[in-house]
Amino acid sequence: MQKENTFYWQHKDLLDTDQLSCSDVYHLLDTANSLNEISNRTIKKVPILRGKNIVLFFSEPSTRTKISFEIASKRLSADTISINASSSSLQKGESLKDTGLTLQAMNPDCIVIRHASSGAAQFLADLFECSVINAGDGWHAHPTQALVDIFSLQQIWGKQFKGKEVVIVGDTAHSRVCRSNISLLNLLGVNVRLCSPRTLLPAGVESWPVEIYTDLQQAVTNVDAIICLRVQFERQKFGLLPDIHEYALRFCLTPEHLLFAKPDVKVLHPGPFLRGIDLSSAVVDSSHSLVFDQVAAGVAIRMAVLFLFSTRNDNWSSD
Ligand code: CP
Repeated sequence: MQKENTFYWQHKDLLDTDQLSCSDVYHLLDTANSLNEISNRTIKKVPILRGKNIVLFFSEPSTRTKISFEIASKRLSADTISINASSSSLQKGESLKDTGLTLQAMNPDCIVIRHASSGAAQFLADLFECSVINAGDGWHAHPTQALVDIFSLQQIWGKQFKGKEVVIVGDTAHSRVCRSNISLLNLLGVNVRLCSPRTLLPAGVESWPVEIYTDLQQAVTNVDAIICLRVQFERQKFGLLPDIHEYALRFCLTPEHLLFAKPDVKVLHPGPFLRGIDLSSAVVDSSHSLVFDQVAAGVAIRMAVLFLFSTRNDNWSSD
């Protein structure tokens, strides 16, 4: 039975943002806000996940996501086990399914997975009893990054998302961050614009709930926030851009572009960012930039995600 004023976390897995309701998102953000102060203590550790085992299974490179999940686990006193593609038996030809079942047999509470194939997290979630957190699967989704971006904006805007204008600029075709952000921003009532060269717009984008631009100056006019993306050469099979410098001339965000946006416009980038191609150094280092606030927000959001997902059953059994 649901107790009054008690929010029970009902999701087993976090696969994408489109599975979350508005109440889920605000509960996650509130939880991240509460846990955030742990990172400012002298002793940055609380025992709320003591005895929990978290597997960090990253078969694609990562700096921010992997380290922030690891720091988040440690700040909550969970035990972590890290595996990657090059040091695991995937190298010897073991399938993802058998690697997953092997991890599951060790009875973790939560598996965080990054994988080059879209759908890898869903595939494991269907096999596992423990929670699966998608830390980025192919072009498909990166839900915790989208939550990090929303949390970073919430630190500035409060809960006033409705009616804000946000533009996502860059290689939107290959970006899992873009896809997860669109559903989350739409859910919160934000109007979303995309700005890319035509060859880097997602297939079928005409039916997405976004406005499409190919001119950066027009795209940033009167926006409240700009989310820049990296050109993901590693996911491009064909030469979609004739010349990266030509691309940068048209799509690299500079201080001159910011003059067309709202005066207090915020600039975000999930990282890793390429200065001079995605956005200029002057923008990265300006007061408009939230790029390093996003990294700090990454720890808070991942603490909230690990807490809610790996204590999900504990919540129910405590009734
Ligand atoms: N934003 C992001 O996913 O960065 P990493 O690849 O460094 O984890």
